[in-house]
Amino acid sequence: MPRNPRYDILFEPVRIGPVTARNRFYQVPHCTGMGYDLPHSVSRLRELKSEGLWGVVNTEYCSMHWSSEDAPYRLCALWDENDVKTQSLTVEKIKRHGALAGVELWHGGNHSPNKWSRETPLSPSGSTQHAVFPMQTRAMDRADIRNLRKWQVDAAKRAKRAGFDIVYVYAGHGYLPFQFITKRWNQRGDEYGGAIENRARLLREMIEDTKDAVGDTCAVAVRLAVDELMGPDGVQAAEEGEAVISLLAELPDLWDVNISYVENDSMSSRFGAEAHQEKFTGFVKKLTTKPVVGVGRFTSPDTMVDQVKRGILDFIGAARPSIADPFIPLKINEGREEDIRECIGCNICRAQNNSGVPIRCTQNPTIGEEYRRGWHPEIMNPKNGFADEAVLVVGAGPAGLECAMSLARRGYDVALADASRELGGRLNREPKLPGLAAWVRVRDYRLGQIAKLSNIEIFRESRMDRDAIYEAGFPHVILATGASWRRDGIGHNNFLAVPGMDQGRVLTPDDIMAGAAVEGPVIVYDDDQYYMGGVIAEKLRAEGHDVTLVTPGTDVSNWSFFTDEQFKTQAKLMKMGVRLLLTHRLAAWAGDHGLFACNYTGEQKRLAAATLVSVTSRQANDALFLELKADEAGREAAGIKTIRNVGDSDVPGAIVHAVYAGHKAAREFGEVIDPDQFPFKRELVFVK
Ligand SMILES: Cc1cc2nc3c(=O)[nH]c(=O)nc-3n(C[C@H](O)[C@H](O)[C@H](O)COP(=O)(O)O)c2cc1C
Ligand code: SF4
Repeated sequence: MPRNPRYDILFEPVRIGPVTARNRFYQVPHCTGMGYDLPHSVSRLRELKSEGLWGVVNTEYCSMHWSSEDAPYRLCALWDENDVKTQSLTVEKIKRHGALAGVELWHGGNHSPNKWSRETPLSPSGSTQHAVFPMQTRAMDRADIRNLRKWQVDAAKRAKRAGFDIVYVYAGHGYLPFQFITKRWNQRGDEYGGAIENRARLLREMIEDTKDAVGDTCAVAVRLAVDELMGPDGVQAAEEGEAVISLLAELPDLWDVNISYVENDSMSSRFGAEAHQEKFTGFVKKLTTKPVVGVGRFTSPDTMVDQVKRGILDFIGAARPSIADPFIPLKINEGREEDIRECIGCNICRAQNNSGVPIRCTQNPTIGEEYRRGWHPEIMNPKNGFADEAVLVVGAGPAGLECAMSLARRGYDVALADASRELGGRLNREPKLPGLAAWVRVRDYRLGQIAKLSNIEIFRESRMDRDAIYEAGFPHVILATGASWRRDGIGHNNFLAVPGMDQGRVLTPDDIMAGAAVEGPVIVYDDDQYYMGGVIAEKLRAEGHDVTLVTPGTDVSNWSFFTDEQFKTQAKLMKMGVRLLLTHRLAAWAGDHGLFACNYTGEQKRLAAATLVSVTSRQANDALFLELKADEAGREAAGIKTIRNVGDSDVPGAIVHAVYAGHKAAREFGEVIDPDQFPFKRELVFVK
């Protein structure tokens, strides 16, 4: 299909200093959890962005010097000629498909405790580390500042040798050049402290140095956080943000502007909508003639056009949208907007990043698997074994939908049966909870794609039992029958059923999502410790109930620290008036009250409630699979050759795990998998 002329503006080339981007799609720097340890994996990931028609593809943060590293998190580096070779692998792959390659040179200052290099951590005024760590930083003297400027220049020259088109000076996310700008960390009395002209001096010098060093062929970009969302305690857009842009307006070749810190910048969809940063960054283009990049989980081409036409942005910056769908620009260019796999803002990608492991995505099960498993986000492996045989997928939740769609894309005939009229399983229920509406995109993308495939037949309101499956006559059966929340209190901190859970009104998240009547006061007992407990407390409080959230965790929704949502969740619940009892485990329930034991002392607290919502763990709905598995003779008589259990009905998990399991099952169907062979390519250092 031809491109919709409405979107032509997104495909205009844009000049950035000495280089020109082929269009306005700009993959801003984002980590992959691979860094210099996994060069083939990271370069293949970036290559696919270029293949997907992004105009600019950047690296993740790339350390300019070993006095700034981030162990145990993986990063890129340009420390020596070996790194030049490693980075040129990425550059070559990006350029192969026509995108410009950018590198974000990084010095973390008080954000880099140097746990691996053991070099002395530096900062403008000798502060503590940003994250709690029992070693502080040294206040930089003039020699340190001279060194820093030299490290930036040396790394920029290496970047040029590696072939990069765009070289960054990175003053975002609270890193070292930014630490000079914010008063919180800069209490210097010399020419680098005090008035904003002084606090911006280092940034000015680093831009000038970089331009002198590589500006003849490389564009010099600045990533600047214009607001820290702390009010007068931090940098504010209307104060230092505007001042710095005004002072340095025409100095860099490009401004890449955002807000700090990562939990605000990569705001999850629970807390920020598409284009949420405009109210902070919208002023920048008025102060400079240089191209401006901004971010805000942009997935809608109409919003992108609007940003450009209203003069807010020149480039549509994207990290998460490009992770969820590396082919967004190509799809828009080909008039296939409805094929875009939109980011849902769940921040599972951030969670992987915050755990120091390779990137994962709920919507895109292939991210991080491009090199090691050879998975392409848009192309499935062609059908192989059982080429003329059809597959029955039972259950149309995240695993079943992904599996059925991907099998059909491989060319297999597929039947997809679900007990309900509405396909989607948990993807129908959870998006109705507060803040989770965007998650329905996991269902909608797959239903949209399935509707285009002629080789999937859908059977709604078709609850399948063993005999129905035998009667259906499919030689291959994949079960994706989901999981149910437990009612017995078993979770991370209770390994056996909690006494008394059959007393009074004990509800599970499934009951709440099904609309069960709740009587207050309510205790939400959260031993799952991801989003569900916090979201249910929010829902019930918003409905006017008296709610107490009890958790054995040290804070509310403890695991959502990894998705950058913990602080915001707890703050929201506290502001709503939800009472909290932390570090307590449910020891017993008595129908009208619970006994909660302190993690540390075992001392018990008695809390009365009319309803207990127990959010602890889930049980796989695997009875049908186990019944089929046990009935070898019946299967044989029915002509069933293979059965497989995938997703929550195999192992309950987050939606990301279910989608991945469904995808993997589809990729592996009809293939010979040797269980004794390691399943993917490892990037090993071989000892000669
Ligand atoms: C997994 C992940 C890793 C990131 N790593 C970096 C990084 O290394 N350097 C950087 O400047 N920003 C990083 N960011 C922030 C993004 O560049 C971007 O500013 C932010 O996610 C908002 O854009 P989005 O709404 O398009 O995701 C990262 C974001 C994500 C999701
Ligand atoms: S993991 Fe979630 S937030 Fe991250 S890119 Fe994928 S869908 Fe978006």
